Amino acid sequence: MAPMPTSVAEAVAMAGYHVAPGVGAALKQFVLPEKLGFGLVAAPLMFSAEWSDGNWGRGELLPYGPIEILPGARALQYAELVFEGLKAYKVGEAGPNLFRPRENWQRLARSAQRLSMPAVSESVFFQAIEVMVGACHRLIPRESGRSLYLRPFLFGTEAGYLLRNSTTFRFMVIANPVEIYSSGPMRVAIERDDVRAAVGGVGTAKASANYAASLRASNAAVARGLTVALWLDAREQRFIQELSGMNLFAVIGGELHTPALDGAILPGITRDSLITLAQHLGFKVHERPLAIDDLLAQIVSGECTEVFACGTAAILSPIGLLTDRDRREYVPVQIDSAAAQLREALLAIQERRAPDPFGWTRDVAPLTL
Ligand code: COI
Repeated sequence: MAPMPTSVAEAVAMAGYHVAPGVGAALKQFVLPEKLGFGLVAAPLMFSAEWSDGNWGRGELLPYGPIEILPGARALQYAELVFEGLKAYKVGEAGPNLFRPRENWQRLARSAQRLSMPAVSESVFFQAIEVMVGACHRLIPRESGRSLYLRPFLFGTEAGYLLRNSTTFRFMVIANPVEIYSSGPMRVAIERDDVRAAVGGVGTAKASANYAASLRASNAAVARGLTVALWLDAREQRFIQELSGMNLFAVIGGELHTPALDGAILPGITRDSLITLAQHLGFKVHERPLAIDDLLAQIVSGECTEVFACGTAAILSPIGLLTDRDRREYVPVQIDSAAAQLREALLAIQERRAPDPFGWTRDVAPLTL
């Protein structure tokens, strides 16, 4: 096995990328605020690598700040932009660790393929996230539930209106010390008009355009005093897909049910982890089409006792109520019961407070400047 670098200089020498002046000073000066929010506090550095002539160039570590992009770039004009989200933890141990980062790399490659963009190579992806986490290790919160959120993203930089892919791309990683994404039980608005994604579209890709498509419903939900929109399938508006930025689980008859991946749902890494973990803990888990009207009837009858959301940002967030277009409210009899048990089991693995029987966590060497 290759030796682990212990300093940014060694990591840079091994990976062959460049560190811009000011990165070390920015890191030294950074003070972690008490209030973090989600994406409000930026780590003071960022990684950037460019793709041209069919190859990834030498990556760079830069102080966090504005970037230059041509106004005509395909990323701005045609949403040629895909991203990932993963977290580094430093709760149970002195050094940082990542949770299932290979799954993020693979999903980024699938997203890029859907938008016919070049894949980020495994070495560029891992160098980027490991140097970001290693260099930022001092900024990773130690409290349970807090972490360093990494946002890798890939976008087309070539200007032009011809409907073709860019020939030049940029891959960047930014990082944010974060707290929990959504606090308290969520109030869900069932979205019956807009659709997030249709089969054959880009729903399974982590394409920024999907998130843009969800914003009108999110705004409408918030205007009604609710937290988040719940998306239904595009063809019949009958089957649950996901919540904005999160997958959904329901406890029905004491067993876990989640919408089967239908070719438009984002395959969440937390969703996948939960299915494995819940089965390991003795739950029966069903991945199947989940009709919204059936679920609402089962909440009313008490057969469905609990509903919750999951995602990298959301971890496992309880749902306090669902409401429909007619404003009728559906309140599950339990809020954060199975969800609390599963959240603690998952977080304990992610935060290295419990053994990791699945081999999901990966050490990252802290780097000195
Ligand atoms: C994530 O959970 O990583 C996401 O990308 C969802 C986003 C709404 C924060």
